[in-house]
Amino acid sequence: MNLAECISTRSSKRDFKNIPVPKDLIFKLIEISSHAPSWANSQPWKVAAATGRTSEFIKENIYKMACDGNMGTPDFPFPESWPKEQSENIFKTGKNRYESIGISRSDEEKRREIMLSNYLFFGSQTALFVYMDGTLGHWSVLDCGMFIQNILLVAHDMGLGACPQAYLVRYPDVLREAFNLDNSNKFLLGISLGYVEKESPINNLKTARMKVDDILKYYE
Ligand SMILES: Cc1cc2nc3c(=O)[nH]c(=O)nc-3n(C[C@H](O)[C@H](O)[C@H](O)COP(=O)(O)O)c2cc1C
Repeated sequence: MNLAECISTRSSKRDFKNIPVPKDLIFKLIEISSHAPSWANSQPWKVAAATGRTSEFIKENIYKMACDGNMGTPDFPFPESWPKEQSENIFKTGKNRYESIGISRSDEEKRREIMLSNYLFFGSQTALFVYMDGTLGHWSVLDCGMFIQNILLVAHDMGLGACPQAYLVRYPDVLREAFNLDNSNKFLLGISLGYVEKESPINNLKTARMKVDDILKYYE
């Protein structure tokens, strides 16, 4: 797969087989992804890979907290509102997602089930959790974003599916306990990773993008 093809055919997957991703494959994935650029090559990223009993511990705890309506206290607070353009993009994406898998907007129960499956790694046994030292600032968040994008692309190139998930870091104390990390480590994002159910409609969504003319202004 060439790079343009890899970028344009990657999509978030939300239905995985309950199979762990082998350790050596995760090692290779992170080794390649770590070639991301960062401020002065500071490399602020750290990754906790959860599988087996650790995954079970995390899933059990965060799924229960989500079912109980606990909104959590993410290390990096979730946005409370969006500017108009982003708000419209989010609305259209959500509408399209549910319509294309045959779920009506009024089917609260099914939507809740899909929302809650976030906390079960969408059925996978493996998830990666990206964190960094809490004293680092937003430039390091940017660096970690580049690293995370590499993970998503390299995973796709390896034939693995992935879904970047803010929801997976909603309860960071559970993660710190699972990974035996102290409070100086702050969680940025979780990534469910694994072998996808290829025929599953939710895995075959293609999200739309804005027109290039709405993104780019060319100045001569
Ligand atoms: C920072 C970030 C947080 C996200 N959080 C979630 C999440 O919690 N749950 C989820 O299902 N998808 C999540 N996504 C995936 C986005 O919904 C997805 O990337 C977007 O709709 C575009 O679709 P695509 O990845 O298939 O191209 C997240 C993506 C990013 C980059």
